[in-house]
Amino acid sequence: MDDDPIWTAVDDYWSGALLRPDPVLDATVEANAAGGLPAIDVSPEQGKLLHLLARSTGARRILEVGTLGGYSTIWLARALPADGELITCELRPAHAEVARANLARAGLAQRVDVRVGPAAVTLAELTGVFDLVFIDADKASNVTYLEHALRLSRPGTVIIVDNVVRRGRVVDAGSNDGTVLGTRRLAAALHTDDRLDATVIQTVGRKGYDGFLYAVVR
Ligand code: SAH
Ligand code: DHB
Ligand code: MG
Repeated sequence: MDDDPIWTAVDDYWSGALLRPDPVLDATVEANAAGGLPAIDVSPEQGKLLHLLARSTGARRILEVGTLGGYSTIWLARALPADGELITCELRPAHAEVARANLARAGLAQRVDVRVGPAAVTLAELTGVFDLVFIDADKASNVTYLEHALRLSRPGTVIIVDNVVRRGRVVDAGSNDGTVLGTRRLAAALHTDDRLDATVIQTVGRKGYDGFLYAVVR
C-alpha cells in the first residue's frame, strides 16, 4: 500500500494545533541524523500519545526495549515524576551513545538509565515492577520481550508494542520475513494468554501505515 500524502497533511494540521515547538526534540532528530541512525523513531504525534498514556496511568517506573536515539525515551521520561525512573535497552553502543547525549540535553540523564546489550540479556537481569513497558526493538524477539514484561509487571501494568501491522504485512501467513514472523508469533502467544487484555489499533500518518498493540496486565 502506498502512503497517501493526506496522512502527513493531517498529522501536520493537528500537530500545528496541539503540539508546541520543541527545540530539544528537534535537536534529538538532528543528532540522530548526524550520527547516522535510521529515522525510525516514533512520530511526534505517537510520542505525545506515549507521553499522555504514561501520565494517564501515573507511571513512576517505565521500561523501554529499543532506544535508538532516545526520541521515544524523551517523550516517555518527561511524563515521570521527579523521583521516577526509566530503563531503556539498546543493542548498539553507537545508538546508546547518541541517546545518552540527547537525554542529557533534555535534562533527563538522572531519570533515564540506558542499558547497552541484547535486550533479552538486560531484561533477564531486571527485577522489580514497572508501570508501563514500551516494546520497540527487533520484532522477531517480541514474544521474549513480552514474557519479561509480564514477569516485571503488576495488575494494571500497561504494555505497548510498536509496529505490529507493518503496512498490513502481518496478515501474510506465508511470510518468511523475520519481523512478520515475530509479530505473528506474538499474536499466537497472546491468543491463549489470560494474563493480560489487549487490543491492536491500526494507524496511518507521517510514518506510514502501521499499528500498535496496547495491553493491560490482569
Ligand atoms: N523506540 C525508538 C526507536 C527504536 S528503533 C524511538 O521510537 O525513538 C529499534 C532499536 O532497537 C534500534 O536502535 C536497534 O538497534 C535496537 N535493537 C535491535 N535489536 C535489539 C536487541 N536485540 N536488543 C536491544 N535493542 C535492539
Ligand atoms: C522500523 C522499526 C521501527 O521500530 C519503526 O517504528 C519503524 C520501522 C524498521 O525496522 O524498519
Ligand atoms: Mg517502532
